[in-house]
Amino acid sequence: MTSRFSLERILGPDGPRIAAAMQAGLKFLDAETAPGLLRQVGRTVRSVPAFRPIDKSALQDSFGGSQQGPSDDFLVGRGLFYLTEQRKLFLDCTAGHYQMLWGYNHPALCAAVTAASRAGVVWDNHSNIPQSPLKWLAHRLVEFGNAPGTTDPLDTVHLGVCTGSVACAAALKIQLCVFARTRDKKTTPIIVVLEGNYHGSDMLPQFMRGMWPGLTPRFKVITLQPNDARSLEKTFRTYGGRIAGFWAEPVMMNREAIAVERDYLQLAQQCCRASGALMCLDEIQTGFWQPDVLEYRTLGLEPDLVVLGKGLTAGFHPLSGVLMHQRDDVLEQYDAISTNGSAAMPAFVALCSLDLIQRHAARIRALGQYIEDGFASLVADFPQVLQAAHGRGYLAGLKFHQVEDALGFQRRLLDEGLWTRVHAYHEGHRTVLTKLGLLADEQIVDFLLRRFRKLLKKGTR
Ligand SMILES: Cc1ncc(COP(=O)(O)O)c(C=O)c1O
Repeated sequence: MTSRFSLERILGPDGPRIAAAMQAGLKFLDAETAPGLLRQVGRTVRSVPAFRPIDKSALQDSFGGSQQGPSDDFLVGRGLFYLTEQRKLFLDCTAGHYQMLWGYNHPALCAAVTAASRAGVVWDNHSNIPQSPLKWLAHRLVEFGNAPGTTDPLDTVHLGVCTGSVACAAALKIQLCVFARTRDKKTTPIIVVLEGNYHGSDMLPQFMRGMWPGLTPRFKVITLQPNDARSLEKTFRTYGGRIAGFWAEPVMMNREAIAVERDYLQLAQQCCRASGALMCLDEIQTGFWQPDVLEYRTLGLEPDLVVLGKGLTAGFHPLSGVLMHQRDDVLEQYDAISTNGSAAMPAFVALCSLDLIQRHAARIRALGQYIEDGFASLVADFPQVLQAAHGRGYLAGLKFHQVEDALGFQRRLLDEGLWTRVHAYHEGHRTVLTKLGLLADEQIVDFLLRRFRKLLKKGTR
């Protein structure tokens, strides 16, 4: 059936063949059980007809624009599995680009979107007149953001920003504006960050990781090694009231999944309190992948600013925000906004997803521990190749002694249909990363660990 807006018609001259392949791909993914799919990971699925993928020549280079030959990009996905355009079956071990909290097209969330659309929820609208789901989401985030009985709760959400980068830039602007209001105008504010941070692709946070040399911002950045308590104390002792803000990601998914320790973050919190700096935790990676929703709650922290994104809407259109105190709500509307960010439907999905997290909290907690134990056991069993297990819960890394082993291991995993990532592009980085979606169970983790073991035994290069 080809309706006016069918894929067949809308996807150009090759639309009919692409749509047929997608349909056959979904049929395959829907018909198989998880064990059935696991048995076939890495294989070509012949029941899906071959087709000519749309070329990427009109895309920018960093998106594969100059790639030669037929592409092998994403065809269709269901849950934790997806098929590529060349019809190979993959187990997605990184939840897409770390945002697909419940995997691809979770049936309950898709059904909720259809029902909500019928009931009048819109995808987006003008941010001056937010629809009910966005407003209610702000209340729910405030609720999840505070331990019961907190005396100084985070009571406001700067919502309505589309991507995490805009949210990070908003949090940084808040730190700088609060500093400007409370300190001597001539003092240059200092922002303390951790080496290997990634707080998005806005220029302002990119200054915090040393980018754009020569285009100097009007603040100074001090970069510390994560978990080095002495340098943290020394920095705050030296600069004290000149420090406007401190930044950390609880698990540094952009630096080998280094887990920033609870004690270190508690010390940072004390230092911030004593000096008047605002502590910002970037929970774009860690948030929502938690039985307690936000990791700082599990760690017993009380930051001043919390950046939320990615898992918040489980990959159903981005929506991000900054959780904060009302007293720090110092930005005007157009100081930090995405005009695509009023996002009622994504907010509705976020509410449904929070409901799922609450219902599955015990299982999420147990599986996070299961993954940690599994990765630790690999390191114990292969000490000649593996240096350490990194991360916490679902956010996991395996650090190799040799960068070539990390690269070879990840290449072989890709060949075998396991989509993982590797950090090996900076001096000393040699870690393979996974971040399974919350649909994962022990069976999936066991499969992953078995494949890892097999490769580690065989040799990784
Ligand atoms: C820790 C962290 N902060 C900020 C961002 C930026 O988010 P976005 O890509 O949605 O702009 C990311 C994205 O990966 C991230 O991992």
